Amino acid sequence: MKIIVIGATGTIGRAVVELLATDHEVIRVGHSRGDFKVDISAGASIRKLFQDVGKFDALVSAAGSAKFGRLEQLQDEDYRVGLANKLMGQVNLVRVGREHMNDNGSFTLTSGVLSQHPMPGSASISMVNAGIEGFVRAAALEMQRGIRVNAVSPIWVKETMQAMGMDSSEGMPAEQVAQAYRASIMGQHNGEVLDVRQFV
Ligand SMILES: NC(=O)c1ccc[n+]([C@@H]2O[C@H](COP(=O)([O-])OP(=O)(O)OC[C@H]3O[C@@H](n4cnc5c(N)ncnc54)[C@H](OP(=O)(O)O)[C@@H]3O)[C@@H](O)[C@H]2O)c1
Repeated sequence: MKIIVIGATGTIGRAVVELLATDHEVIRVGHSRGDFKVDISAGASIRKLFQDVGKFDALVSAAGSAKFGRLEQLQDEDYRVGLANKLMGQVNLVRVGREHMNDNGSFTLTSGVLSQHPMPGSASISMVNAGIEGFVRAAALEMQRGIRVNAVSPIWVKETMQAMGMDSSEGMPAEQVAQAYRASIMGQHNGEVLDVRQFV
């Protein structure tokens, strides 16, 4: 399979690439590094990526920024980042990418645990994650040529918690998180939000 991984240079993306690269042709895409570069918040950049890469069988998006901050702190621009980048960036990967995807392919987007289990300061991120989950459930109803679309919902990743100086004892190693992405690509899931804890 020819599989595009967006966010391939990140904590989760690197683990997804490592898991898939032994059996598949993996195209590593980052923002500033990788086989190809893209800015998912810019439609022209997404269109160029798909023209440059050509036909493919699966796409994983392990990218997307959104701002953490309490309600009284979050400004319009903070919400705009999450909407333009993590939400519409990933939605547009599906909207544009479906024209370039082979029959029976799959999209796997990334939401996150904060959609279902919010915390103080997560309003913008929780909103965006819930938007992604709503999108895949509905978009799956209209996909054609056997194309599937799912989201993976990671919990806190151990390596991320360590990098942030947090107690990482409850975190999940990225290599375990990656299993849910493989299940989305290789299985029959469609219109589903895959909880990473079910694939360890
Ligand atoms: N890590 C966690 O604990 C956790 C938990 C729940 C959900 N998530 C979600 O999982 C996703 C990946 O998280 P992560 O921790 O692996 O992120 P990360 O380590 O910060 O990596 C981000 C990746 O996205 C790329 N990227 C950044 N801005 C981009 C843009 N505008 N267009 C295209 N690509 C861009 C980066 O490329 P460059 O390296 O070239 O900049 C990098 O490959 C995010 O949506 C995050 O919200 C993460």
